[in-house]
Amino acid sequence: MSNNIQGKVVVITGASSGLGEATARFLSAQGASVVLGARRVDRIKSLADELTRRGGKALAVATDVTDSDQVKALVDSAVQKCGRIDVMLNNAGLMPHSPLERLKIDDWNRTIDVNIKGVLYGIAAALPYMKQQKSGHIINVSSVAGHKVTPAGAVYAATKHAVRALSEGLRQEVKPYNIRTTVISPGAVATELPNSITERDVSENIHKFYEAFAIPADSFARAVAFAMSQPEEVDVNEILFRPTRQEL
Ligand SMILES: NC(=O)c1ccc[n+]([C@@H]2O[C@H](COP(=O)([O-])OP(=O)(O)OC[C@H]3O[C@@H](n4cnc5c(N)ncnc54)[C@H](OP(=O)(O)O)[C@@H]3O)[C@@H](O)[C@H]2O)c1
Repeated sequence: MSNNIQGKVVVITGASSGLGEATARFLSAQGASVVLGARRVDRIKSLADELTRRGGKALAVATDVTDSDQVKALVDSAVQKCGRIDVMLNNAGLMPHSPLERLKIDDWNRTIDVNIKGVLYGIAAALPYMKQQKSGHIINVSSVAGHKVTPAGAVYAATKHAVRALSEGLRQEVKPYNIRTTVISPGAVATELPNSITERDVSENIHKFYEAFAIPADSFARAVAFAMSQPEEVDVNEILFRPTRQEL
């Protein structure tokens, strides 16, 4: 019986570590072709080589999601090399938490550019192909912070609320084209994400929280696989999950 994953062409932004990398591994093992985008090209190339050695089909394309042309080139490569795009996983993100009063304007701008504009550029790159195909699946990554705001997390939470709003608008608009949309909102998952924090005291606190509570990244990969593997007429729109021990 088909798992509805085998043979699908899946483009993943932020595939060089954490959730993106884990998902690339998981879906490749289930027979998907994965097209990996990130700035650390050495990492995605060696991941693509490893997945290929294991019998999978994988491609690495250097991509900065703050540049719409680069995101378009990533998706265009997927279609040129693999013939189509079935899933666009807009996963790249960062979380440089800090209290607003510290005025970390560069961090705010980077967070907005990657977490919001990067997702929009992914939608812009994938949507024309999916409309033409009359099929496809756009999966955006929000967060528990897309549901709850915490001190020092206002800008990050604002971007993740935005991802949910964009995803809901997208869901309604793409109905005529038979395109599925999912927004996944994880709690604390053990990845490199806390390393994007530039304020030392905040970084220490978040690292402690992650060390105490975070769960492995394959939890996220399984959520992606769950949404993908439903029959095509079933559109899983939202998944919110946390570590069992996480209160927030
Ligand atoms: N881990 C968690 O607890 C958690 C919880 C909720 C939501 N999330 C979300 O999950 C997503 C993945 O994060 P993660 O936890 O896996 O963290 P991670 O290990 O730090 O991975 C972040 C990924 O985003 C990529 N990225 C950052 N800036 C980029 C840019 N300008 N262009 C292209 N790629 C860029 C990084 O690749 P390069 O640096 O190589 O470009 C990396 O592959 C994020 O959207 C994050 O907000 C994570």
